[in-house]
Amino acid sequence: MSTFKAPKGTYDLTPPDSAKYLAVREALSAPLKNSGYGYIETPGFEDVALFSRGVGESTDIVSKEMYTLTTKGGSELALRPEGTASVLRAALEANLHKLGNLPVKLWYSGSYYRYERPQKGRYRHFSQVGAEAIGAEDPALDAELIILADQAYRTLGLQNFRILLNSLGDKECRPVYRDALQEFLRELDLDEDTRRRIDLNPLRVLDDKRPEVQKQLVGAPVLRDYLCDACKAYHEEVRDLLTAAGVVYEDDEKLVRGLDYYTRTTFEFVHDGLGSQSAVGGGGRYDGLSEMIGGPALPSVGWALGVDRTVLALEAEGIELELPSSTSVFAVPLGEEARRVLFAKVTELRRAGVAADFAFGGRGLKGAMKSANRSGARFTVVAGERDLADGVVQLKDMESGEQQAVALDALVAEVQQKLA
Ligand code: HAM
Repeated sequence: MSTFKAPKGTYDLTPPDSAKYLAVREALSAPLKNSGYGYIETPGFEDVALFSRGVGESTDIVSKEMYTLTTKGGSELALRPEGTASVLRAALEANLHKLGNLPVKLWYSGSYYRYERPQKGRYRHFSQVGAEAIGAEDPALDAELIILADQAYRTLGLQNFRILLNSLGDKECRPVYRDALQEFLRELDLDEDTRRRIDLNPLRVLDDKRPEVQKQLVGAPVLRDYLCDACKAYHEEVRDLLTAAGVVYEDDEKLVRGLDYYTRTTFEFVHDGLGSQSAVGGGGRYDGLSEMIGGPALPSVGWALGVDRTVLALEAEGIELELPSSTSVFAVPLGEEARRVLFAKVTELRRAGVAADFAFGGRGLKGAMKSANRSGARFTVVAGERDLADGVVQLKDMESGEQQAVALDALVAEVQQKLA
């Protein structure tokens, strides 16, 4: 224990658990790499205005949860609370939309920061794997992304998740709905804060979980009844494609999501074993975002999946990922001469592509064997003075317990053959 602790709402990933996080990140991104998405990385902080314009002034994320700072040079920056605005900014800056065919398909993985009230599944520093398909209005693209997320969760073995699907309409039909909803909400008995929200972001009021609010929302106008023909047809096509792919989803007309840039398709992946922080991922279409941040019209769609919550979902379902041991061979020298010889052998093994480790620190045999066990290595190589005099090492198979003398020169080949 030092004087310091991880800041409130954050936690460290340490071995052996950290291996699970790496495996989850890998599993969540694997379907994207396999489907034409290229990797993109952007800075951990951006101009504050990118988020206030992109994600929206009226959202909790921007109005309450951003970590903002003023640099010594006077720039107003924010630690990124999400990835979509940054990725689109970067794609526009690099002119990716002009270089090749649209859509530009990108994936990313990294840390995000929100000053939220910490609780299980809700952290101030968390990790996402995300995907953005920029510059095409095609229901197949929306369907592709939902199918790939479904595939990612399934390859991890998750079963108790559901896909919620909705359409938020576009710039033609949503304003008409918004007016109708505002009119309805203004008649209700609501607190000051919620009244303010009616003006700023009335759709979010539908999201209010409090029973006294929900009770009054019965009979509220629903967006579905206001969708224009183009939005309706688009949504039908997305639904048909999902059904054809065998992906089961639930229509959820109350799904509004906490970011302002969404248009048309929105979706969320919720896991039933996580309590109140049940969204393991979410996303949707954002046809107007590019213009909102000063770019050309580039209709786009994307999602982000939460790595932390996916790990919690695995735990909730009792799923143990099969993580291959990271070390195949552990070398235990007995004596100074053996140290030099085995250290050289470890280097040779590593250069030959075999994962190998060494008993550092010059402890006795007992301690070294403990480390060998803990490493999960399939083989240990032990050598003392007598072995070296005979030109051999003792190769022990930790699974079968069998031990054999192997000529020093033949060790690498022998191990490679046994591991193959
Ligand atoms: P989001 O719904 O805000 O969407 O976040 C996506 C996922 O990140 C959530 O479903 C959740 O799993 C995880 N997450 C969010 N906040 C926290 C937190 N405080 N602690 C732990 N996990 C968290 C977005 O971020 C959009 N950029 C998604 C998107 C991409 N839309 C279009 N493209």
